[in-house]
Amino acid sequence: MTNAHDVLLDASPWVKRFALSIPKEGSVLDLACGGGRNAALLASLGYSVLAVDQDINAIQQWSDSLIHPRQENLEGETWPLQGLQFAGIVVTNYLYRPFLEQLPKMLVDGGVLIYETFAEGNAEFGKPSNPNFLLKPAELLGLAASSGLKVIAYEDIYLDQPKPAMVQRICAVKGHLKGHLKGRIPLQFHG
Ligand SMILES: C[S@@+](CC[C@H](N)C(=O)[O-])C[C@H]1O[C@@H](n2cnc3c(N)ncnc32)[C@H](O)[C@@H]1O
Repeated sequence: MTNAHDVLLDASPWVKRFALSIPKEGSVLDLACGGGRNAALLASLGYSVLAVDQDINAIQQWSDSLIHPRQENLEGETWPLQGLQFAGIVVTNYLYRPFLEQLPKMLVDGGVLIYETFAEGNAEFGKPSNPNFLLKPAELLGLAASSGLKVIAYEDIYLDQPKPAMVQRICAVKGHLKGHLKGRIPLQFHG
């Protein structure tokens, strides 16, 4: 039987690096959470997590009181999370462009977006290869700029672990960097 500890061992290193920059007040959205590896990490750090996916069977097997699985189709006609607000939003290995701009709108002031997914050029290494699932050059920077998010860190790189891939990833804050974040985020910019 899977448990939260085993699941969190697979959490994204990028999410691990920036998770503590999310304000403690308010909950965190793990969008398209899958098996819940990042939700498990966030819960282990004391965050309350709304874990949304079309398939929540796996996460329901082990989720604890800090994780709230919610089954939703994130690619329907309307945005199913309308009106919700979060201290943090985490997205990994998922992209659905029609609702991308909804994410910054759901952050409270001081809220943190941590996003990591495949980028253009990934087709050379396998799937995903459909351009709809691959970020265009600087696309996450563009999202931050158009939404007034301050970029804390950004990379558009080749990774060989956990498998060869082209990956784009960002950590960005809505509004002003709060005092509690200073010293908790490695302040470096790769852009
Ligand atoms: C590659 S997995 C990534 C899972 C997780 N974020 C991670 O990195 O481990 C993509 C996830 O998107 C979810 N997904 C795909 N289409 C969806 C939709 N229309 N509505 C909700 N979830 C969807 C899948 O069920 C799957 O869990």
